[in-house]
Amino acid sequence: MSGERKLHWERVYEGKEPTEVSWYQPVPEKSLELIHSAARSTSDSIIDVGGGASSLVDRLLDVGYEDVSVLDISGKALQQSVARLGDLAARVRWIEADITDFNPSRSYAVWHDRAVFHFLTEETDRQRYIAAMKAALRAEGHFLLATFGPEGPLRCSGLDIRRYSVEMLRQLLGDDFVLQSEEIDEHRTPAGATQQFLYSWWQARA
Ligand SMILES: C[S@@+](CC[C@H](N)C(=O)[O-])C[C@H]1O[C@@H](n2cnc3c(N)ncnc32)[C@H](O)[C@@H]1O
Repeated sequence: MSGERKLHWERVYEGKEPTEVSWYQPVPEKSLELIHSAARSTSDSIIDVGGGASSLVDRLLDVGYEDVSVLDISGKALQQSVARLGDLAARVRWIEADITDFNPSRSYAVWHDRAVFHFLTEETDRQRYIAAMKAALRAEGHFLLATFGPEGPLRCSGLDIRRYSVEMLRQLLGDDFVLQSEEIDEHRTPAGATQQFLYSWWQARA
């Protein structure tokens, strides 16, 4: 399963420019706002899970964050970000991995995921993701999640997805997390369609 998944995403990034994919954002404003609220110090460690070729990492470096990691299943996507950043890329830890197989070797203050978790349509994959996230987050760390919302699309990038309400997420996360905020956001794709996202910010209990 993991091999097919990787192949799919490598092909996506080989076939399209980063600005052409439906999830492209010129500025990832909502993610930046949440990260700034959660990561108060520029030394706070941040991992962007399924970061793809997003320019979120550029913006995080711009404002001075010193400990930024980007994980993605697609090496091609990561290469696009490395090429865009030039010399600055050396300041980032790049991790090519399937998040459902990820064994974190360190902890993070902030785990950010925009538009990755909703692709996990199998319960075992969701549980593996949540186990990795819980293992990686430090005590009182922050989990910033953007999935398709209750009125979001049913498919993306040719794949089935799962839409989420806050209640569904609360049940998945259990008592280990406290909801800090939730917000619906309408994403405008480069092709002009609108997609409903649910941004939620969770904090791990001490
Ligand atoms: C819809 S894109 C979102 C990219 C980025 N977060 C953004 O907002 O622009 C989904 C990303 O998740 C990555 N991805 C999908 N499944 C993954 C998995 N199981 N493990 C790690 N990355 C995955 C894809 O390669 C792709 O870059």
